[in-house]
Amino acid sequence: MAGVFEVREYDGMGRRGELTVPRADITVETPALMPVVNPHVQTLDPARIESEFGAEILITNSYVLHGSEDLRGPALEQGLHELLDFSGVVVTDSGSFQLAEYGDIDVDTRGIVEFQRAIGSDIGTPVDIPTPPDVDRGQAAGEQTTTQERLELAAEIDTGEMLLNAPVQGSTHLDLREQAAREAAGTGLDIFPIGAVVPLMKEYRFDDLAEVVLAAKRGLSADVPVHLFGAGHPMMFALGAATGCDLFDSAAYALYARDDRYLTVRGTEHLDELTYLPCACPVCTEHTPEDLRGAGETDRHELLARHNLAVSYGELRRIRQAIRRGNLFELLETRARGHPAVLDGYRTLLDHAAQLEATDPVSKESFFYLSGDSARRPEVARHHDRIARLDVPDELVVTAGSPVERFEASWRLRPPFGPVPPALVDAYPLTAETPDRLDTQAYEAAAEGIRRLVEASPDSDVTLFHDGWPDSALDIVPDRVTVEVLGEGFDDET
Ligand code: GUN
Ligand code: ZN
Repeated sequence: MAGVFEVREYDGMGRRGELTVPRADITVETPALMPVVNPHVQTLDPARIESEFGAEILITNSYVLHGSEDLRGPALEQGLHELLDFSGVVVTDSGSFQLAEYGDIDVDTRGIVEFQRAIGSDIGTPVDIPTPPDVDRGQAAGEQTTTQERLELAAEIDTGEMLLNAPVQGSTHLDLREQAAREAAGTGLDIFPIGAVVPLMKEYRFDDLAEVVLAAKRGLSADVPVHLFGAGHPMMFALGAATGCDLFDSAAYALYARDDRYLTVRGTEHLDELTYLPCACPVCTEHTPEDLRGAGETDRHELLARHNLAVSYGELRRIRQAIRRGNLFELLETRARGHPAVLDGYRTLLDHAAQLEATDPVSKESFFYLSGDSARRPEVARHHDRIARLDVPDELVVTAGSPVERFEASWRLRPPFGPVPPALVDAYPLTAETPDRLDTQAYEAAAEGIRRLVEASPDSDVTLFHDGWPDSALDIVPDRVTVEVLGEGFDDET
């Protein structure tokens, strides 16, 4: 049964979309958060998650239900929605995570997929093999082959209206990730979770995480829904969304709460260390840290879980709004300033400007230059590519000042973009708002624009009037460009 995923709009590789889940007859807005519900331990019950946070989708573990004396019967008799008391989409994982943690499980793909269907799951999962990061290539390739065989088997099972996940493995071998994604896509299954990235997230290896996600995305067509398995910390949702992930699942809200940890979009705080509650959710406006510390364990964990979920949903809404307005890069850049590991993830993402550029809208409302990293945004790379295709006059001055009359043609010089012909001056992204006090990277990117222009127009005579560029930028400008500083030598003529 095919679900329908429609992308409404892109911002870089980030997108807002709608995932229609036929068995639940519900359309979920993405990017979406799927709280993980442990069938045995409910720090917050699903009905509450639905009523208080408007949850449209959650994820639980069919393997735990399958192996439970107490819950297996009720799950089969009542179905998951009634058992959990939740009316939205219920996704079920298969026990693969338990396989990774404990080395062995007693179900196979056919058994667990049929069980998932029998308990009323809306989206099921085969038993993929979560190959951890950094294993040797032989192991990663061998396990990926097994995972692929199981996906192909799952695709043959009659699942009625239930959709199926097709997890993408391949460890940290990027070519294997890409191949795994391509093969998973070939099964025609419905949703493509990126698997076994939990160890990367636990170790704050957001740079490797970004590489792995981008590799998987290269193997998938743009229009399929992607789930980032085990991504539950709100500090990395913006990074996950910007790499093109549509679904996140959070066990963190409950696991961290049970450990007295308090989630924020910049990282994790321990309740013992908080003098203030830096958040405006109902829990944090109605309580002080002292209240929470003084509460009984059950109440404290519930209150922390409610805060943790409030922050997580809040960040998801902020991400959707950012995509809507076309400022997801600005949001991510802000998050990157909140934690160095996110900064590494963002910088890694920016290494792939061409991949980002493919779906980035040609025009957005605004471009805020917020740091040297903004100079590597795909809009800058796109302008450079465009410069290389322009008709360049035989004699051209590119100037940081007013037009210089003596030359046949005078173009603006606008860091971080570089040369801007008159026709493009008012077009996105040349309308970018930049600070008056620019950094070296902005000048270097502008110099790169000059270099691209000169390279593409070997017969043009190009003069550059800059306003005091650093040497590192001037070093990028080809020798055959005549370089002048505004206010010295040739003066600004108007
Ligand atoms: N939960 C977290 N990571 C994984 C994974 O790689 N596969 C499955 N099935 N579940 C997961
Ligand atoms: Zn709060």
